[in-house]
Amino acid sequence: MAPEITKVKYMPELRSIAQLADSIWHECFVGIISEGQIDYMVDKFQSLEAMTEQIENQGYYYLAVRDGGELCGYIALKPEKDNRLFLSKLYLRSDKRGLGIGRAMLGRVFEEAAALGKDTVYLTVNKHNDHAVNVYKAAGFYEADTAVTDIGGGYVMDDYIMEYRL
Ligand SMILES: CC(C)(COP(=O)(O)OP(=O)(O)OC[C@H]1O[C@@H](n2cnc3c(N)ncnc32)[C@H](O)[C@@H]1OP(=O)(O)O)[C@@H](O)C(=O)NCCC(=O)NCCS
Repeated sequence: MAPEITKVKYMPELRSIAQLADSIWHECFVGIISEGQIDYMVDKFQSLEAMTEQIENQGYYYLAVRDGGELCGYIALKPEKDNRLFLSKLYLRSDKRGLGIGRAMLGRVFEEAAALGKDTVYLTVNKHNDHAVNVYKAAGFYEADTAVTDIGGGYVMDDYIMEYRL
């Protein structure tokens, strides 16, 4: 059955996403970035306070992903002022991967882009996150650039910038 993907509108659901994000990030980034950097990034980008700020003041919106009624993933999007949609977050619990849900999530991202009148979706992905890079390439993203971003706390993000043209 296809996953259910819905826009996050209420604080309790955002709180559940913060809990889910905490557990997914501490699983999927092991071996890619340090434990200290995971803690730092979860706090900076995926805490309830950080996500509330993104939604209220920075133009982001979140989509919740459910399979069999159970929250198991999330997507964060930010429409830019130009022709692009920024895919900021795409996260799925490990036991739900490899089942086509990731592909369905990307399908929804492309639908959101089309509905917003955008012709390009872009994202940043850690250069060593091989699985995600492969999933994005399989969906038609290409590597457009690289970026090393100082995120404070003595940490940097070492990323590919990938793009998809609708
Ligand atoms: C990224 C993520 C959401 C993708 O979900 P997923 O369930 O693993 O993806 P799917 O199983 O739906 O696979 C998507 C497609 O990628 C393809 N794919 C996966 N690995 C591949 C590989 N090594 N080579 C070629 N294609 C590959 C699959 O075959 C599938 O294509 P298809 O639909 O044409 O069959 C999920 O892996 C995840 O949450 N990872 C951890 C968090 C993360 O790294 N997020 C991204 C941060 S930028």
